Amino acid sequence: MSGGCLVTGAAGFIGSHLVDRLLSLGRHVVGVDNLVLGRRAHLAKAMAQTTFKFQELDVNDFDTFEAFVREEHARHPIEVIWHLAANSDIQAGGADPEIDLRSTFLTTHRTLRVAQSVGIRRFCFSSTSAIYGMQQGLLTEDGGPWFPISNYGAMKLASEAAISSALERFLERVWIFRFPNVVGSPATHGAIYDFVRKLRRTPGELEVLGDGTQEKPYLHVSELIDGMMHIWGRAGERLNYFNIAPPDTATTVREIAEEVVRVVSPGARIRYTGGNRGWVGDVPRFQYSIAKLQRLGWSPRLSSTEAVKRAVREVASQPAASPGAD
Ligand SMILES: NC(=O)c1ccc[n+]([C@@H]2O[C@H](COP(=O)([O-])OP(=O)(O)OC[C@H]3O[C@@H](n4cnc5c(N)ncnc54)[C@H](O)[C@@H]3O)[C@@H](O)[C@H]2O)c1
Repeated sequence: MSGGCLVTGAAGFIGSHLVDRLLSLGRHVVGVDNLVLGRRAHLAKAMAQTTFKFQELDVNDFDTFEAFVREEHARHPIEVIWHLAANSDIQAGGADPEIDLRSTFLTTHRTLRVAQSVGIRRFCFSSTSAIYGMQQGLLTEDGGPWFPISNYGAMKLASEAAISSALERFLERVWIFRFPNVVGSPATHGAIYDFVRKLRRTPGELEVLGDGTQEKPYLHVSELIDGMMHIWGRAGERLNYFNIAPPDTATTVREIAEEVVRVVSPGARIRYTGGNRGWVGDVPRFQYSIAKLQRLGWSPRLSSTEAVKRAVREVASQPAASPGAD
């Protein structure tokens, strides 16, 4: 068996898919999560495997986290940390900047300190399109300088900077994945999740923030994990950083709302609150260049809208999308 993996944010939407994939590749996996946004139930499949261990803890609690990782590392050497723990409620982070300072930046800083203390020298990081801020044209990885417009984006960009400095000091290799909007089940947040929940509560009407013209690329979580595995396996620089998204396609919020209505409550009226942004810090429109990823030999098969349609069906049938179920 190859080296073990530590996944922070393991019980979250993307973390739980990542854990399942790493286990299926024969890796020994240790997952941690404070279960603020994640759920144990997301890890039901993984929990049944002897090569998986889960621990509920806050990665910002350095002493507890360090002691746990040290012990696990002694038992099964951990080759790489996949750091996914973060705040995923971007609107909440706009209202209270402490949230992203603690959950999005400090989690990275503390996880890096644990890596240094225990001696784990490979680091993978879930970054985001939000680091780019408001830019014209296709977003390429090397364009910079970047000026994020949300606290979340600012703390992710600061995390990338902290990882880069750790590479100079003690890490030997880093992979930074800049995700677009990722969709699928078990969703814990996001437009599809919110729309399904709202429609379950008021089946006759769906309120949508903004005017519905916001347009972004959406990637299905299964393809996101495929892309991450491809990059991890093939990108061999010391510092590897890639956009991941479907090429040349994007989906409007209006299309998402209409699809959710069609699947969950046909005939419901859609009411737009107006304005071209969903919330303060929302980047209403962006398009990724994935030329760098394509040169590495990978591209998703689903278009943005195909990914959304598949995810709407999945989220509509997940139990947590019912009011009161979570
Ligand atoms: N879903 C998307 O569209 C998207 C887009 C861009 C980037 N990302 C990034 O991908 C990663 C995973 O996102 P997700 O969509 O699965 O969100 P999620 O909220 O489902 O997962 C994040 C997990 O981190 C955990 N967590 C937060 N703070 C923690 C702490 N201090 N200690 C331990 N656990 C903690 C939460 O409980 C949650 O389970 C995040 O870093 C997120 O910023 C997601």
